[in-house]
Amino acid sequence: MNRKKIALIGGGQIGGVLAQLIASKELGDVVMFDIVEDMPQGKTLDVGEAARIVGFDSKVTGTNSYKDIEGADLVIITAGLPRKPGMSRDDLLTTNAKIMKSVAEGVRDNAPNAFVIVISNPLDAMVTLFQKVSGFPFNKVMGQAGVLDSSRFATFIAWELNVSVKDVNAMVLGGHGDSMVPLVRYANVNGVPVMELLERKYGDKEKAKEVMDAMVQRTKMAGGEVVKLLKTGSAFFSPAAAATAMAESIIKDQKRVLPASAYLQGEFGVDGYYVGVPAVLGANGVERVLELSLNEEEKAAFDNSIAAVKKNVEAMERLGF
Ligand code: APR
Repeated sequence: MNRKKIALIGGGQIGGVLAQLIASKELGDVVMFDIVEDMPQGKTLDVGEAARIVGFDSKVTGTNSYKDIEGADLVIITAGLPRKPGMSRDDLLTTNAKIMKSVAEGVRDNAPNAFVIVISNPLDAMVTLFQKVSGFPFNKVMGQAGVLDSSRFATFIAWELNVSVKDVNAMVLGGHGDSMVPLVRYANVNGVPVMELLERKYGDKEKAKEVMDAMVQRTKMAGGEVVKLLKTGSAFFSPAAAATAMAESIIKDQKRVLPASAYLQGEFGVDGYYVGVPAVLGANGVERVLELSLNEEEKAAFDNSIAAVKKNVEAMERLGF
């Protein structure tokens, strides 16, 4: 049989939606691993029993043994604690690093040829740790953050301009933290700059800038906005949808240009760090990083975001990871 095998490490909130989305799109057979006994088996049984209704032939199974992810083509990792109100993603570092180390060993030993998408936070540090422990090639290991952050930005723009979000292109680069960089200058509606449309709407440059600043700020804090409302966890539908888009681009060799946490070796003036950048995702994983010019202000914001990523990676190294 030629179906892809997709392993989900972590069967919590995001893992559950990932199983549904991946099965519904028939991207492959799904194996969900979690350390909680019986839970991944129960959750996948539930998803699998909807096959007749939703109409998919993907097999969806759950396990507590890494042996069952053997030969996986793609692994998506959500293992780790989510945020609670008042926490930043960085507050999760110590706990999630411990978890990520064990996950990386499990994946390395059982699915050595897999492509890997990390979702656990703090994202850029976790993807760095996964790659370091697994020793997997850089192009096969990436993090999901930018697709979601960009979707949030695009959604706010669509609401503001009362246009279909399908026609909004907006990108967020940098680390997946409060200093992420929504790129205002490149945001457009079918090629028309969003700033121009805002200026036309308000007939006032100052007001247009104010409205855009508010959308940028909301994008940066969008994860926290959801956490504050949910109270018991963090966003789960949108991160799962974002990682599914990345998985689909790799599995179908779509070569979509998606903002992903990718290992930089000189691109954007960064060497040796995982950071959110536009990447071509295809059958070889991160096939290329698309560089684009940043003006002084954007560059300063990007550098500030990189500094936050470096700080986390260094903190993790000091903890012995
Ligand atoms: N190995 C595998 N799974 C683990 C491990 C481990 N060592 N430790 C914890 N888990 C599992 C938990 O049992 C839980 O089912 O990870 C799952 C996490 O699920 P949730 O708590 O529901 O968290 P979720 O909302 O899915 O977010 C997961 O993604 O966006 C990030 O910040 C978020 O780090 C968090 C991660």
